[in-house]
Amino acid sequence: MDIILGFHNDKEALFKDEMRAWNNCVNLIATTDIPSEDEFFESGLVTEYLDTVDIREKKDLRVVIVGSPVVIRSVGQIFTELGLTKQQIWVCYERRVSSGNCQCEHCRVTRPFCCQYGPVFRYDKALTMER
Ligand code: FES
Repeated sequence: MDIILGFHNDKEALFKDEMRAWNNCVNLIATTDIPSEDEFFESGLVTEYLDTVDIREKKDLRVVIVGSPVVIRSVGQIFTELGLTKQQIWVCYERRVSSGNCQCEHCRVTRPFCCQYGPVFRYDKALTMER
């Protein structure tokens, strides 16, 4: 398993101890926009480290993208260009969810509401839901 996480800076990174522990069992890369003095953190954007993921066994690979719409689009595009199908990619629109009660319309990408039928959607479906 590979986990690539992006933070603005190392001070805002949560679960630092847990990330260091996870790094013993998975390939975990934590990046920061602002370079860190902590050697655990790499500098740069998440998209700069996607080529560290071993995609030779493409058919068994699944990708989950959590982040802003820009991150979702960028990472999804890169993985599809690397040969993954849109059915192998899942995206999370949790950041759009506010009340979670299907009343406020905060999460309405389009119908269906994210809070009702998501917030995790397969990438091919999510692309048809974008505003
Ligand atoms: S979070 Fe308000 S309608 Fe879904």
